[in-house]
Amino acid sequence: MGATSRVTRLLLATALAAAAVAVGLTQANADQDNQRIVGGSRASIADHPYVVYLATAEGFQFCGGTLVDDKKVVTAAHCTVGKQPADIAVVAGREDKESGAGVSAPVQKIWVHPEYTNVRSGNDVSVLTLTKPLPYRPLPLPNKDEEGLYAAGAPGVILGWGRVAADGQPSRYLLQATVPVVADADCAESYTGYKPETMVCAGLPEGGVDTCQGDSGGPLIVAGKLAGITSWGEGCAAPGKPGVYTRVAVYRDVIEEPALESKVSVPTQ
Ligand code: ARG
Repeated sequence: MGATSRVTRLLLATALAAAAVAVGLTQANADQDNQRIVGGSRASIADHPYVVYLATAEGFQFCGGTLVDDKKVVTAAHCTVGKQPADIAVVAGREDKESGAGVSAPVQKIWVHPEYTNVRSGNDVSVLTLTKPLPYRPLPLPNKDEEGLYAAGAPGVILGWGRVAADGQPSRYLLQATVPVVADADCAESYTGYKPETMVCAGLPEGGVDTCQGDSGGPLIVAGKLAGITSWGEGCAAPGKPGVYTRVAVYRDVIEEPALESKVSVPTQ
């Protein structure tokens, strides 16, 4: 074999190695791009017409929410506390935040659970009343006694426009993933101060799939019902640190109260 052919072979081998590295990098980038919510995939708003997002007056998406009635949105208290109706727009029917699809509905009234203080203490629930009914199918609330929704291992669908990694960017598109409900005893091991009476955890023991910042207020759906509201967690998708959700069944009555048109109170001073 001559020197030329050896050089050719060396060049060829180098080129092949470089190509392999390039393919590897492209693969890594593709994997990164596929991380949605954290570890999920694109969701169709047509399949989940009840999922909405909360935007600032400037149109910046900051939380999620769920239509439970044509004029009522259930979200997290930490998304709305201290805000005025004019500070929040409810955007429905818009899978792509950069599109003009669907509607942006003004908020008429904000109800925050009266005992809400911070997410770790629970009661992370809020109801927004809209100024006009929205033409989108609402998601049913669970009944108060519907404990089966919270059985360990039950598959829960999480949805939102939040970050795709703990230190990542929010998503332009609606994303979804499925995570199993975690047994209360296991979640109490993950988080001291976990309150099983008013919270529920969902996630894989090894992590990798979770809600993240910006997904708060959005739904955890079990058996077609609004079982949970995205509330908090340590990091996102970390092993042994599942997402914590507001246990909606417990709040069924208080959610329905502010939802009753006749109960809209005019504050007296
Ligand atoms: N508090 C976050 C929000 O405001 C949601 C965090 C959920 N974290 C988690 N690891 N599941 O969007």
